[in-house]
Formats: sequence, C-alpha cells, structure tokens
Amino acid sequence: MSNHMSKRLLGAAAAIAGTTLLLAACEFPSMETEQVGYRGTGMEEVKNPRREAEKRDRLQAPEPLPPTQPGGGRAGDVYENVQVVGDLSITEFNRLMTAMTEWVSPEQGCNYCHIPDNLASDDIYTKVVSRRMMEMTKHINDNWSDHVGDTGVTCYTCHAGQPVPEYVWFKDDGPPQAGGMAASRAGQNIASASVGYSSLPRDPFSAFFVDEPESIRVIPTTALPDGTNPRNIMDTEKTYGLMMHFSESLGVNCTYCHNSRSFVAWESSPPTRENAWHGIQMVRDLNVDYLVPLEPVYPESQLGPHHRDAPKTNCQTCHQGANQPLYGVSMLADYPELDRIRIRDNGVPDVTRDELEAPAAEPDGAGEDPEQMFDELPGEGPDGN
Ligand code: HEC
Ligand code: HEC
Ligand code: HEC
Ligand code: HEC
Repeated sequence: MSNHMSKRLLGAAAAIAGTTLLLAACEFPSMETEQVGYRGTGMEEVKNPRREAEKRDRLQAPEPLPPTQPGGGRAGDVYENVQVVGDLSITEFNRLMTAMTEWVSPEQGCNYCHIPDNLASDDIYTKVVSRRMMEMTKHINDNWSDHVGDTGVTCYTCHAGQPVPEYVWFKDDGPPQAGGMAASRAGQNIASASVGYSSLPRDPFSAFFVDEPESIRVIPTTALPDGTNPRNIMDTEKTYGLMMHFSESLGVNCTYCHNSRSFVAWESSPPTRENAWHGIQMVRDLNVDYLVPLEPVYPESQLGPHHRDAPKTNCQTCHQGANQPLYGVSMLADYPELDRIRIRDNGVPDVTRDELEAPAAEPDGAGEDPEQMFDELPGEGPDGN
C-alpha cells in the first residue's frame, strides 16, 4: 500500500471515529418503558426521563401561606362590596387575597385586580372576572369530585403564577387559504400544537368542549356498515385530534386509557378512561356555564383572533403535561377559605367591556408588600397583626 493511500485510509478512519464520538456525545437518554396491562397486549407507557424530570421541576406547588385563625370580624360587615366571601373573617379574607395575588398576579400585585385607592370598586374587568373565577373554583371542587377527587383545584392549578393561564383555546379556522376545491379543509394537513403536532383538525375543541361531547363516538358497533353510524371520516379525524390532545395534556400514551385491542370497549379499558370521561363533561360545563358567558366582560385584546370568542379551558389548562395536575399535590387542603366561597344564584356579570377599565400596564403597587397594603385598610393583616 502506498504511503499516500494509507494516509487517506487513516484519515477516513479518524473521521469515522470522530463522527461516532460526536454522535455518542449527543445520544439521548434511553426511553423508559413500563408495562401497564397484560403481557402481549402492547399496553406500555413510554416516557422520556429527561422531559419527565423537567416537567417535575416546573410543576411544583408553592409553599402554603401560614394558616390563620378566624377573628377580626366578618369581611362582609367590615368591607363595602364583598359578594362571595363575606362569611370569611377579616384575617381569612386577607389571607385569601394574598394567596390569590401569589397565584395569579405575583408580579403585578393587588392592583392587577383593583383600582388603586378604591378596592371596593368593580370598574376593572380583572376583578369582575376573578369573582366569577372564585365561584367556578368552588363549583369544580363541590360538584366535579367525580373528576378532581379530594385533590381539587385552586387558582394556581390553571394560572400557575400568571394572569392568563398558559393553555387556553379559541375557535380556530386555521390560516387563510385559497378558494375553490381547497376551501374546506377544516384546518387539516397542517401540523398544529393543539393536536400534539399531528396534522389532524387543529380545533377539535369547539365540537366536544362546547357543543356535543357525545359525537366523539365514531367507531361502528356493527361488523358491516348498516347505514346507522352517522359519523364520517372528518368526524373521525376530529376524535383522533382530541385524543392527541388528551395524550399531550396528560403526558401519556393512548394505552393509559385504552386497551388497544379495542379502542371502543369500556370493559377492557383501564379505569383512567372513566376519569377522562368525567373530565370531558366537566370541561364542557366550565366552558358553557362560566367561561363563555364572560365574553362581553373581557377587553378585545383577550378575545379569539377568528371569532372574537372568550378564552376557554381544555384538559391542558389544568394538567399541563402531568397525569394529575401538579402531580397530584393538593393545595386545596391548605386553603379552607376556598371552601367558603358562596356561589350566587345569578352570578353572570351584567356589565360589558365599554363600562370597564383594564389594569394599568405598570400598576401602582406592583411588587408592593401585601402586608403594607393591608396596613392602610380596616381590619388586620393576613398573619393577624
Ligand atoms: C386576582 C384578583 C385579585 C387580587 C390579585 C386581589 N384581589 Fe382583592 N378582591 C378581588 C375580588 C374578586 C374581590 C371581591 C370579593 C367578593 O365579592 O366576595 C376583592 C375584594 C377586596 C377587598 C374588599 C374591598 C371592599 O371594601 O369591598 C379588599 C380590602 C381587597 N380585595 C384587598 C386586596 C389586597 C390588599 C390585595 C393584594 C394583597 C388584593 N385584594 C388582591 C380580587 C383580587
Ligand atoms: C379551570 C382553570 C381556571 C381556574 C381554576 C381559575 N382560572 Fe382564572 N382564568 C382561566 C381562564 C381560561 C381565563 C381566561 C384567560 C384570559 O383572560 O385571557 C382566566 C382568566 C382570569 C383572569 C383575567 C386575566 C386577564 O388578564 O385577562 C383573572 C384575574 C383570573 N382568571 C383570576 C382567577 C382567580 C382569582 C382564580 C381562583 C379563585 C382563578 N382565576 C381560577 C382559567 C382558570
Ligand atoms: C386520558 C384518557 C385518554 C387517552 C390518553 C386517549 N383516550 Fe381515546 N378516549 C377516551 C375516552 C374517555 C373516550 C370516550 C369518549 C366518549 O365515548 O364519550 C375515548 C374514545 C376514543 C375513540 C372513540 C371510540 C368510540 O366510541 O368510537 C377512539 C378511536 C380513541 N379514543 C382513540 C384514542 C387514541 C388513538 C389515543 C392516543 C392518541 C387515545 N384515544 C388516547 C380517553 C382517552
Ligand atoms: C379543572 C382542572 C382539570 C381539568 C380541566 C381536567 N382535569 Fe383531569 N384531573 C384534575 C385533577 C385535580 C385530577 C386528580 C384527581 C385525584 O387526585 O383524584 C385529575 C385526574 C385526571 C385523570 C386520572 C389520572 C390518574 O392517573 O389518576 C385523568 C385520566 C384525567 N384527569 C383526564 C382529564 C382529561 C381527559 C381532561 C380533559 C377532557 C381533564 N382531565 C381535564 C383536574 C382537571
């Protein structure tokens, strides 16, 4: 072999070795697979340990505020305009305001929901919305225990320290498109985040989370077509889009809720499918009774880009990638104040955006110490002094 040739070979060998090293250095940790059903049924949960660790770091409940004793008079008697938590004592009321600030507007402070110098005023939309949110939270914990169990929810479950929860949805027609034959593609054939980056219909929510959840059922129950199944291929794609959303929202595979032998059979599905069924009914109820009716109250900036509809909830709003929100940690137990919210008979606000203000971009009192805010008020601070 000529010297020249062997040099070339050596060079090639070095290049291959180098590439191998390079690839080895960027190898991802291997996936973890857990068998969750009978052998041979392929019922396995596949998880990426790196992403799992990131999620667990992010989805942590904040430390609870120190508990408080009832005392200091009834909030409804001391303050001017308290409609849903009037039965709390002043100290409990103040603890709740402090907690809500931490859960929803930690950077903006009390004045995200209040007109500075007039805490009793309802002329700001965020306060009007919050009062309804308080009732919704109580409604979820009281009436949807089939889904949320004793774990329950607080404002933090959805808001996680932000005024607008990270995951909300609007009606979505997809990007504008050419006319003619291409005109009706129902937002299909474009990968979208709402359906786990598949190219299924990008808005599987309007149909099931506002209109009629029954129409999820698409699989025929007879061996041969007998003309009684009203669902077509487009309905089926919507169902699959919704199922991608479930998987993405909970960070699980299809087999977390289905035995893939038959996606339709309930008797061979894991019990989690029943939890999910209650979840679907709950989400629809929250949207129809609480979130959609707030549309006239929000400023235009909060409404949907296509239909000017109100921001709504889906599974991801609470779950945020975990099989149980905050991996099952219950914050509710630390906040008995939330259990004493009164749901009004007719709580839908009857004001509209034209009559309401929005919080100032840089509200006075942003970052202000909440204890100081209470110092100027009748009653006592959250720690009772
Ligand atoms: C996320 C919204 C929100 C935040 C943040 C918030 N509040 Fe409130 N606040 C409300 C709502 C809603 C009511 C009315 C409750 C009701 O009707 O039962 C209220 C009522 C009050 C009242 C009663 C006023 C009256 O005379 O009627 C006081 C006092 C008060 N808040 C103080 C505070 C303080 C101090 C902070 C900051 C530590 C704070 N709030 C942060 C939403 C909020
Ligand atoms: C089931 C989820 C959920 C829970 C629980 C929840 N919220 Fe909300 N909240 C939403 C959604 C969805 C919106 C609409 C987002 C928007 O305003 O663009 C919203 C909006 C708001 C806004 C208006 C924000 C803005 O800038 O437009 C406030 C304030 C608020 N919530 C306060 C609360 C408080 C206080 C609680 C607890 C008593 C609470 N929320 C509980 C889902 C939730
Ligand atoms: C969090 C639980 C959950 C996950 C994850 C899930 N599903 Fe479902 N699925 C359900 C529930 C609940 C229903 C029944 C809804 C109803 O009948 O009202 C359902 C229904 C279906 C149906 C329709 C059955 C019928 O009656 O026609 C199909 C098909 C389906 N799922 C496929 C999938 C696929 C594929 C995946 C993975 C991409 C998946 N599912 C992930 C809970 C889940
Ligand atoms: C308002 C917040 C909220 C929303 C919205 C929500 N969930 Fe949940 N979900 C919870 C809570 C809280 C739990 C934990 C219940 C418990 O500890 O018993 C839970 C538990 C579950 C479980 C049981 C998981 C397990 O491992 O035990 C499933 C499955 C589930 N949810 C599916 C869904 C689906 C599907 C949707 C949307 C259709 C949905 N959830 C929407 C709050 C929510």
